Amino acid sequence: MRIAIIGSGNVGKALATAATKAGHHVTLSARSPEKAREAAQATKSHAASSNRDAVKDAELVVLAVPADKVDEVIGSLSPELDGKVIIDVTNRIDTNDPGKVLDGSSMSEHIQKKAPKAHVVKAFNYAFASRMAEPKVNGTRLDGFVAGDDESAKQKALQFVESIGFRPIDAGPLAMARSLEGMGLLNVLLQIQNNWPWQSGWKLTGPTGDKE
Ligand SMILES: NC(=O)c1ccc[n+]([C@@H]2O[C@H](COP(=O)([O-])OP(=O)(O)OC[C@H]3O[C@@H](n4cnc5c(N)ncnc54)[C@H](OP(=O)(O)O)[C@@H]3O)[C@@H](O)[C@H]2O)c1
Repeated sequence: MRIAIIGSGNVGKALATAATKAGHHVTLSARSPEKAREAAQATKSHAASSNRDAVKDAELVVLAVPADKVDEVIGSLSPELDGKVIIDVTNRIDTNDPGKVLDGSSMSEHIQKKAPKAHVVKAFNYAFASRMAEPKVNGTRLDGFVAGDDESAKQKALQFVESIGFRPIDAGPLAMARSLEGMGLLNVLLQIQNNWPWQSGWKLTGPTGDKE
């Protein structure tokens, strides 16, 4: 698949590494072309000169920027995003007042409103970047939940999630991004509370149809 990743930080680089390893064609962008070039070199992917340049031929666009930069990025890209599948990995984190974030909304639904002709799905936000690069723990694939309203966009995202090593799980409509974002927040809060090493992701156990 031709994949554009906007944002060349922890998540952008982890997903670029995993995606190139899986044989995808990955183009990375960042705020500056130099930063994109550095990240592309480190991840064996391609650097774009701008976000617009990155998305123009992409089948999948991964939005890997801080939540408070989303409006700026989406605003500068429309109408380029029309018809594209956007994988939203963003989390809003408020460690002092988690209730502020758990307000019944989601970043993904917000993005879908900002880019109404794109097909937004939520994925990956519930795992740390280190796990996106290596989604297997002791031989077990972590769960790769994907929520979205457009069926073919969701199938494409599930294929991508599986190709880099997660167990693909259809998590339902885009409104379920609210739950997935809650899982992302909980993952962060647990690291802080327990002094864990920021390497966890989620695995639903019991009979869930997984043979591994
Ligand atoms: N880190 C994790 O383990 C993790 C896990 C799950 C979800 N998330 C979510 O994933 C998103 C990215 O997290 P991260 O840890 O990768 O953050 P990060 O390391 O701070 O990287 C964010 C990247 O976005 C870039 N950026 C900011 N504004 C941009 C713009 N207008 N155009 C293009 N690029 C822009 C930044 O560029 P500069 O470097 O130039 O500022 C930086 O490269 C966040 O929403 C976070 O909540 C993170």
